[in-house]
Amino acid sequence: MINIYSIPKKIGKIEIKNRFVRSATGERLASEDGRVTDELVQFYKVLAEGGVGLIITGVTYVHANGKGIPNQLAIDRDELIPSLRKLTDVVHQYGEKCKIAIQLHHSGRQSMVLENPPAPSAVFEPTFNVMPREMTIKDIENTIEAFAESARRAKEAGFDAIQLHAAHGYLLSEFLSPYTNKRTDEYGGSLENRFRIIEEIYKETVNSIGKNFPIFVKMNVDDFLEGGLKLDESIRIAEKFSKLGFAAIETSSCMWEVISRTKKELGWHPSFNPEARTDIDSKEKEAYHLPYAKEIKKVIKIPLILVGGIRSLDLIEKILNEKNADFIGLCRPLIREPDLPNKWLKGTGKITYECISCNGCTASLLSGSVRCSQKKID
Ligand SMILES: Cc1cc2nc3c(=O)[nH]c(=O)nc-3n(C[C@H](O)[C@H](O)[C@H](O)COP(=O)(O)O)c2cc1C
Ligand code: SF4
Repeated sequence: MINIYSIPKKIGKIEIKNRFVRSATGERLASEDGRVTDELVQFYKVLAEGGVGLIITGVTYVHANGKGIPNQLAIDRDELIPSLRKLTDVVHQYGEKCKIAIQLHHSGRQSMVLENPPAPSAVFEPTFNVMPREMTIKDIENTIEAFAESARRAKEAGFDAIQLHAAHGYLLSEFLSPYTNKRTDEYGGSLENRFRIIEEIYKETVNSIGKNFPIFVKMNVDDFLEGGLKLDESIRIAEKFSKLGFAAIETSSCMWEVISRTKKELGWHPSFNPEARTDIDSKEKEAYHLPYAKEIKKVIKIPLILVGGIRSLDLIEKILNEKNADFIGLCRPLIREPDLPNKWLKGTGKITYECISCNGCTASLLSGSVRCSQKKID
């Protein structure tokens, strides 16, 4: 049966076989020096077999001074290319026409493993208890090069695309946000200046690997912090991404500092991992970035991936039919049921979903590696 979510659609030059995207999910299944392990390969095999159209890997660091968590996947050196190829090979072999993008990441002031990491400005981070150091112009130039070089490695390792992580309060999100970017040089102040590092990464990357390799971006629609990024500016940022030549935008929100806020301030309970809201137990609480994405959709000419609490198939159909998003991003539902896309696409099994949005998987990630705490191990 043809359903809207089963219809292929292109992002840039690549065709995605259906509208389901596995949103980036940190796994902590790499070796301590960032290499792909057999466990990680097996993890991606299961995901690819589950029917999702596009997989975006978890956070992958582009430079050792941007490492965020132990056992994080790395792409900061050429010697890792053969190891990364194991991931692209397994996805292309076991997921029929499944595509894979790698999420390029620098943790900035939100690092669990570095004491004095680089950030746009020296603004204390209370969740990670980190005092970052303000980056020099040389640091910024090195970071731009690190992203562009990582993009080249991604292409050489067989990835179909890359995604710049510019959301959730990590380095690129910190540059965009007036809350964390207090610089007075050409990389701070006006929105144009706060956007500059990403623009330079984009141009450097295109110079090195050409225009045809799709570059996606994940961005915040709102930081949910007083003095942070709000929708009026995120709309302008999205428009800039679209005009510059990015292939797709994924809309998310929050910095980790948000967990110190209250429900009264926010209207919803922040959890430990605020971009992944808990207790999505009614349709009203689902798709919590939809109102923001609708506004962003009006100004962009590239596909929009909507993520955040999307759970019900009828809601997915409605979002796609009303053209409020082009793709549906799923993180926790695929930790719980990696074959959920197949269940939905083939109409077999339950037409519902099992994830209860409790964030037990985040606790597992922080204490070891990602897994669904609700799922019984056979
Ligand atoms: C355990 C866990 C790990 C995550 N890791 C990443 C990540 O590496 N990169 C990223 O952009 N978002 C990450 N996220 C956020 C998800 O991609 C997604 O934006 C969020 O969970 C909301 O979507 P969902 O309701 O479908 O889970 C993570 C979320 C969880 C729960
Ligand atoms: S622990 Fe399992 S049920 Fe709970 S949010 Fe994570 S994937 Fe969903």
